[in-house]
Amino acid sequence: MSKLEGKIAVVTGGSKGIGAAIAKALAQAGAAVVVNYATSKADADAVVEAITVGGGRAVAVQGDVSKAAQAQGLIAAAVEQFGRLDVLVNNSGVYEFATIEEITEAHYRRLFDVNVLGVLLTTQAATPHLGDGASIINISSAITHVHTPAAAVYAGTKGALNAISGVLANELATRRIRVNVVSPGFVVTDGTHTAGVVGSDMEASLVAQTPLGRAGRPDDIAGVVAFLASDDARWLTGEVITASGGIR
Ligand SMILES: NC(=O)c1ccc[n+]([C@@H]2O[C@H](COP(=O)([O-])OP(=O)(O)OC[C@H]3O[C@@H](n4cnc5c(N)ncnc54)[C@H](OP(=O)(O)O)[C@@H]3O)[C@@H](O)[C@H]2O)c1
Repeated sequence: MSKLEGKIAVVTGGSKGIGAAIAKALAQAGAAVVVNYATSKADADAVVEAITVGGGRAVAVQGDVSKAAQAQGLIAAAVEQFGRLDVLVNNSGVYEFATIEEITEAHYRRLFDVNVLGVLLTTQAATPHLGDGASIINISSAITHVHTPAAAVYAGTKGALNAISGVLANELATRRIRVNVVSPGFVVTDGTHTAGVVGSDMEASLVAQTPLGRAGRPDDIAGVVAFLASDDARWLTGEVITASGGIR
């Protein structure tokens, strides 16, 4: 039997990059998957198509996770569609780089609204539906310890996420809901292309610092998330797993 057979999963930001790979990996392991997107409907539909063509079950659901009503609507749509919820992957995230001189209120608020508030809002919406054996997986970043220059705000959001995840692991443990973090190193995605990291000196520097000697791929992260969602990880909560090819 597939490891996630019968499970229902929501993947925020499942339309692109790491989230799309996670959605496909969870479906491959037997879960029915809600592929959330904010703006990229066509990309989310393509992920759903790839899953259903392979015999899996998936739907695309729009929702900006940084808006309470939309986060509630996303989870409500998942429960309405599939009848229950077992796995929440908080993958949605935005990143842009700014030196200390370049940081603005708008930059700070955009990153904290999506990367921190968004996780709190989707988790708040989901927890009433989660029970014994449920798994929440938050996608952070190895940047919290790699300390890349010009990433103070972004690294701050992910440091906050790590702390929040530790608190929620303890808070939700009485209900047997596990909360863990996966922290990727540099991964080639739509987002790192758009941010200008792919092909840049920053990429070259990050790859040079990576013991396994290459950039990460979305699939490198997705398998770790599928493990954490499964019963194989039943004794893990409050963990931060760095999936980075060894850069730390
Ligand atoms: N790539 C890396 O090197 C790397 C390294 C460490 C950690 N991470 C983390 O991994 C996660 C995914 O990164 P990625 O590189 O795959 O990103 P990406 O290619 O830019 O994709 C981002 C995803 O997040 C969604 N999203 C953005 N704002 C949203 C919002 N307000 N509400 C709902 N969804 C929203 C996007 O949806 P739409 O396209 O529909 O707007 C998209 O599906 C992020 O949390 C990121 O911080 C990435």
